[in-house]
Amino acid sequence: MSQATLSSLVNHQIRLAARPVGLPTDANWSHTSEAVAEPAEGGVVLQTLALSLDPAMRGWMNEGKSYIPPVAIGEVMRAGGVGRVIASKNDKYAVGDYVSASFGVQEYLSLEAADMRRNGLTKIDLRVGTLTQWLNVLGMPGMTGYFGLMDVGQPQAGETLVVSGAAGAVGQTVGQMAKIRGCRVVGIAGGQAKCDWVVKELGFDACIDYKAGPSAVREGLKAHCPQGVDIYFDNVGGDILDAVLARINRKARIVICGAISQYNATTAIAGPKNYLSLLVNRARMEGIVVFDYADRYHLAVAEMAGYLKDGRMKSKEDVVHGLENFPNALLKLFNGENFGKLVLEVANA
Ligand SMILES: NC(=O)c1ccc[n+]([C@@H]2O[C@H](COP(=O)([O-])OP(=O)(O)OC[C@H]3O[C@@H](n4cnc5c(N)ncnc54)[C@H](OP(=O)(O)O)[C@@H]3O)[C@@H](O)[C@H]2O)c1
Repeated sequence: MSQATLSSLVNHQIRLAARPVGLPTDANWSHTSEAVAEPAEGGVVLQTLALSLDPAMRGWMNEGKSYIPPVAIGEVMRAGGVGRVIASKNDKYAVGDYVSASFGVQEYLSLEAADMRRNGLTKIDLRVGTLTQWLNVLGMPGMTGYFGLMDVGQPQAGETLVVSGAAGAVGQTVGQMAKIRGCRVVGIAGGQAKCDWVVKELGFDACIDYKAGPSAVREGLKAHCPQGVDIYFDNVGGDILDAVLARINRKARIVICGAISQYNATTAIAGPKNYLSLLVNRARMEGIVVFDYADRYHLAVAEMAGYLKDGRMKSKEDVVHGLENFPNALLKLFNGENFGKLVLEVANA
């Protein structure tokens, strides 16, 4: 793109204006715009095509220590995404290349050479998966599901795996990978439509609608896990974690991936009441942070791209359009309105 054309572009951005208490509201965001500059020597300018909306964003908005620093007040909101190189002064990246990167909630990102690695800039191949699949099964949630299951869950054929958030981004990868590894797979999800999808489309053995009533999870686990639970992949925490802990087998593995039921809590987070089940069953509960596996992502991508191609794996994305819709779209994750990996399309591919 010529210098004249670049400088005519306006980069619309959404920044963190204030830290939320409970669910984020419009008051937590500010909308800004700035000109797009020429790339520095060795740098690139990227156009955002689609952003990954993640439950973790809620955590990044909080003050305090975590596995990654919080987004600062006034900073462009952090977001992973996929996009296209539109200007380059770097031999490794040509105009037109598709990439994934930490774009932020904005339309353009200018990256200097020194920041490319830290930013996670990686070329993506659209022959292997669609843009939105690169945010789902082939992207961060897929890597989370894959390594959380394989490295922490350590599935063995014939074992029973339960996964919560079953119809979501991480959950769909976990359940399908566990089926491929020969497990009995029981999902937990909100509503009949999501439950029907994971059973009929993804091939899970059963799915429990946790919204069906106060004893739905307890009764569902009893009915669908007659041999107990060997692996629980936890995406939600809270009461569902407790209900599953009550049914685990000896040497069970509990993968603590997330606790979305607690992310907007305004009082202390509810921890597991049934943790002594770990003692009785000589079981293990272990957390996972996806970024620890970055040097092995390519292996998981290669394996799962094969399953997407041969039909053993499916993916579902829920696409919302328009950068300006980011604040409302994010809320879909917390009220369960998203059906599949939540993606914000920012520009046409
Ligand atoms: N550790 C890591 O490195 C890592 C990386 C990525 C994601 N994660 C975690 O993995 C989990 C899933 O993330 P995702 O990107 O795959 O999101 P997702 O499952 O696609 O979307 C979130 C889903 O959470 C469910 N949910 C919301 N509030 C809930 C509640 N109170 N109780 C039970 N379920 C609730 C909703 O589904 P229903 O309709 O079924 O309620 C919603 O659709 C999150 O906890 C996230 O933080 C961790």
